[in-house]
Amino acid sequence: MRIAIIGSGYVGLVSGVCLAEIGHHVVCVDNNPDKIRTLKKGKLPIYEPGLLELMKANVAKKRLSFTGSIGEATEKSQVIFLAVPTPPKANGDADLTYIENVARQIAQHMDSYKLIVEKSTVPAETGKKIRRTIHLNLPKKYKSGNKILLDFDVASNPEFLKEGSAVHDFMNPDRVVIGVESKKAEQLLKEIYKPLKAKVLVTNIASAEMIKHASNSFLAAKISFINAVAQICDRVGADVLKVAEGMGLDKRIGRQFLDAGVGYGGSCFPKDVDAFIRVGEKSGYEFALLREVRRINEAQRHWFVRHIEEKLWNIKDKMIGVWGLAFKPNTDDIRSAAALEIIQLLQAEGARIRAYDPKAMDNARKVLSRNTVFCDSPYAVAEGCDCLLLLTEWPEFADIDFVQIRDAMSQTVIFDGRNFLDGTALRDLGFEYFGVGRGKSL
Ligand code: NAD
Ligand code: UGA
Repeated sequence: MRIAIIGSGYVGLVSGVCLAEIGHHVVCVDNNPDKIRTLKKGKLPIYEPGLLELMKANVAKKRLSFTGSIGEATEKSQVIFLAVPTPPKANGDADLTYIENVARQIAQHMDSYKLIVEKSTVPAETGKKIRRTIHLNLPKKYKSGNKILLDFDVASNPEFLKEGSAVHDFMNPDRVVIGVESKKAEQLLKEIYKPLKAKVLVTNIASAEMIKHASNSFLAAKISFINAVAQICDRVGADVLKVAEGMGLDKRIGRQFLDAGVGYGGSCFPKDVDAFIRVGEKSGYEFALLREVRRINEAQRHWFVRHIEEKLWNIKDKMIGVWGLAFKPNTDDIRSAAALEIIQLLQAEGARIRAYDPKAMDNARKVLSRNTVFCDSPYAVAEGCDCLLLLTEWPEFADIDFVQIRDAMSQTVIFDGRNFLDGTALRDLGFEYFGVGRGKSL
């Protein structure tokens, strides 16, 4: 199948590379010339495990190419996936200007049947708007009065991959959701995904769009639920790790996404919860449950900072070390990362910050204030610190020599915002260790 992917970011690039890997001819498009230059040189503009090798292999097999031109990609392809950003507007709505802009450009270059597929996360009813935009922008030669002389389809195929394990997630999906209005679109999409041998769910477009928003919001709700439980655990002497384990053993609940901590971040959960609240509002439904999910998430960061303040007495002029800046491990993505929000809250109180992240420091440098000291190792961070915060659970933080850390610190206090470290072992070494929701014992 000849496929174009418009938008070569975390989703577009992974989807494009993986679709090439399963045998299709894919052209990835981006309007950022630096990205296209980097990709053409055989390099990645993002960090995502396993992606570079797969990209190089498929470029070598001539199944994968890159361009800045939507026109060229549209002409070459039968199926066109939209993977451009849908960032939040000030009122929480998804900003769909990127989607409209790309739909217009595709329409202007259409010369034969095309299937235009939403892969970006979009509110219900976006499919209808894309159809109308294409209709309005087709070249005049394909219009006769109100009649359209060129056949095309719009479909929704939401993406469920997670950053950090994106290639694996794309290749091994729990389900492929296909929202279509025609048999032809259904058959084309089924054909594209056939090599994955995944469970395929066929729906109408609005249902597919809803499945994506509902899934992300449900996962965010699970995290806020366990963070609320963690707050009570701290007060009554229960351990949230045991509580999550006990809940998760019930197959109807499941253990995943029950990790309490400093709350969810990333480019998706915060914006998608906001957007889903707005979808409800516009349809006449007040999604109060999701408002609370969002409130709990925001409160969790503030609680964490207050907790640090309580234990350090004063934050002003304290040297605070931070391990982890990315919104989760195995990515360089810092969008809405809890670590950055917490650092900014601490800096507002006058703290001095030393920070380290294995992959996200270049991105973090662009947004954190100049008085953040970026260190080249977790050990360097610890030098002279009054406390250490673990804010992203990178695997390398499990293999630290804490004797060396203890000797480098000025006060041996650790706040583990991800319940990742062995608190008992750290206490035995003489640290004061504080997790999230670990009760009075840890
Ligand atoms: P991203 O910012 O990493 O990538 C988007 C890319 O689109 C950028 O490279 C940008 O330069 C490009 N772009 C913008 N306008 C363009 C245009 N007019 N023409 C060509 N390229 C253009 O974003 P992302 O994280 O890949 O997310 C894209 C969409 O996928 C969003 O709707 C997001 O919610 C959704 N999504 C993201 C993830 C994830 O894990 N990141 C997972 C599932 C769904
Ligand atoms: C999430 C979803 O998991 C994907 O299915 C979806 O495709 C994607 O959003 C999207 O639509 O963009 P992602 O944001 O990449 O994926 O990463 P997650 O692993 O879901 O983590 C999101 C945030 O929740 C991170 O900040 C993570 O630290 C936090 N989290 C996750 C918790 O605090 N507790 C948990 O138990 C799990």
